[in-house]
Amino acid sequence: MATAALQAIRNTVPAVLPSLLLCDFGDLKSEVAELSAAGAGVLHLDVMDGNFVPNLTYGMPIVEGLRRHTDLPLDVHLMISDPLAYAKPMVDAGADMLTFHVEAVRDPVETAGKLKDLGVGVGIALNPETPLASLGEALSLVDMALVMSVEAGFGGQAFNPIALEKLRLLRQDHPDLLLEIDGGIDVDTIALARAAGCDLFVVGSAIFRSDSYATAIADLKTGIQAGSGNGNGCAAGQKQEDQS
Ligand code: DX5
Ligand code: ZN
Repeated sequence: MATAALQAIRNTVPAVLPSLLLCDFGDLKSEVAELSAAGAGVLHLDVMDGNFVPNLTYGMPIVEGLRRHTDLPLDVHLMISDPLAYAKPMVDAGADMLTFHVEAVRDPVETAGKLKDLGVGVGIALNPETPLASLGEALSLVDMALVMSVEAGFGGQAFNPIALEKLRLLRQDHPDLLLEIDGGIDVDTIALARAAGCDLFVVGSAIFRSDSYATAIADLKTGIQAGSGNGNGCAAGQKQEDQS
């Protein structure tokens, strides 16, 4: 049984998720309001620890602050070495989905199970060079797979098409699993990812380096439509799309 927050995310599919990595951290309240008005259905929060990845961003206080400014679901991408150490505080801060990296943990099944016990949506992420097989049995426990199309750590990198084949294989074998892509997504690559079966599209530069969030998100949604066809996307999201 999905939690209400997880169901809220499923209801947005297919969706553009702005990544709050390149936004103005001096004015988060306005940023969230503008993104919400521009048609963002979910916010993607990139948490980096300077250890699992060579970059450092933010933790619970920012998640908690964002939670006070919006009802949008918060999708938290944990690029950290010890996801379980911060999972409960992240849920308490308002995270709706917690995604951990398979490369970061010794036992992905154990990690996924412990995260599920917190009553939050759970995702498992893998970097471009990590084979799909590394996800193993954990895939049957999680709500979402996050296929990285850049090496985790920085915004503004070039899209790696290795992600597309992973999406296709995951979609084929797991029709109900939410699939998310992150890294180098623009109006062209979003169509490719949608055609490969993706549901949730994380976007940094193509939104935050544009003149207008509303125009950028509208253009990205047009890209999703261009890649949509019968059978793309997870089963629940497909039903949603058929109704719209
Ligand atoms: C990278 C982050 C991404 C990043 C995406 O490690 O997980 O969410 O912000 O940014 P762009 O869209 O610029 O690749
Ligand atoms: Zn991310």
